[in-house]
Amino acid sequence: MHIGCPKEIKPQEFRVGLTPNAAHEAVLHGHTVTVETEAGVGAGFSDADYIAAGAQIAANAADVFAAADMIVKVKEPQPVERQMLREGQILFTYLHLAPDAAQTQDLIASGATCIAYETVTDRNGGLPLLAPMSEVAGRLAPQVGAWTLQKANGGRGVLMGGVPGVGPARVAVIGGGVVGTQAARIAAGMGADVTVLDRSLPRLRYLDDTFAGVFKTGFASAGNTIELAMQADMIIGAVLIPGAAAPKLISRAQLADLKPGAALVDVAIDQGGCFETSRATTHQDPIYDVDGIMHYCVANMPGAVARTSTIALGNATMPFMLALADKGWRQACSDDPHLLAGLNVHAGQVTYAAVGAALGIVTIDPQDALRQ
Ligand SMILES: NC(=O)c1ccc[n+]([C@@H]2O[C@H](COP(=O)([O-])OP(=O)(O)OC[C@H]3O[C@@H](n4cnc5c(N)ncnc54)[C@H](O)[C@@H]3O)[C@@H](O)[C@H]2O)c1
Repeated sequence: MHIGCPKEIKPQEFRVGLTPNAAHEAVLHGHTVTVETEAGVGAGFSDADYIAAGAQIAANAADVFAAADMIVKVKEPQPVERQMLREGQILFTYLHLAPDAAQTQDLIASGATCIAYETVTDRNGGLPLLAPMSEVAGRLAPQVGAWTLQKANGGRGVLMGGVPGVGPARVAVIGGGVVGTQAARIAAGMGADVTVLDRSLPRLRYLDDTFAGVFKTGFASAGNTIELAMQADMIIGAVLIPGAAAPKLISRAQLADLKPGAALVDVAIDQGGCFETSRATTHQDPIYDVDGIMHYCVANMPGAVARTSTIALGNATMPFMLALADKGWRQACSDDPHLLAGLNVHAGQVTYAAVGAALGIVTIDPQDALRQ
């Protein structure tokens, strides 16, 4: 198969769909790989790295789209990219179609077979191509929160680990899933006094069994949540209710009860945020003050560490990318129901029920798409 990887063109996106290592694996499997020139520079990969991996370099995206049987990307295709897709071509990338009618219509019109990273599943009921980005955002949260806590940034002026004779920062992590667990591990590693709150008792049991002595756990009742928040120097919001907007766990009025200069890191901002006063910010201007409480609400946190994020995403996508290339999409999806769960659009029809429901579009069963 001919695999193509264009340079990402969405503003502030520095990741790339294929690492040189992933390109090399594809070449070892007998495939041809074409990468747009400078596609990897934002993640620290040069054209020479791809050439050494056995890939070809194309001068522009049009050449990549024209040559490739399968396009591997990071972000949803932008309008100009959508026009270059064609019938029978495979698109493998993040799509997030449910809130995006224009993109969905363009993908339907393209006739391409579009497999979305975010809906590929695993046998534990998880989302294996979203998890690496949650791991990145979770591990980044205490790092940016520690910076936010510094006096010059409007923070409380508290050092995460304290020093001999001075206690550490107190960190409350609300939501103990992928983001929250990674955030708690790193905050504890920085020497902070960390408590993770969740509403799921099985999850709290797992965290307690695995991380006893590293951080504490608590049940996320409304009362417990605000009580812990009032004692915290840093509060990390990491909740998720699948398919729903994030619940608002701290109201504007409750900010008055928090410690002055406390840092609120709202990782759940991409789902609307879990603090009433959260609004999405960018890496250029990441923090703002509401009533003396410093908010960090960057919606694409992994972009700050594009190299780590690219490699982490590439590790997760590689087996699926290789299966698609080795077997073709139809056989690969027949063999693996978790990959089939990623199929969102095929040959002009939406195959993912939740996308159809959100946009009022009639869908077909993905099994029917396999038979077409
Ligand atoms: N800002 C970014 O760049 C970025 C990057 C990755 C993920 N995220 C977001 O981070 C959030 C967390 O993602 P995740 O992968 O950890 O999800 P997850 O499903 O692994 O974990 C979410 C946890 O929240 C818990 N929860 C739900 N409601 C709660 C409540 N009211 N109080 C306490 N806990 C509650 C659940 O029990 C679960 O354990 C999501 O909104 C995700 O979209 C943001």
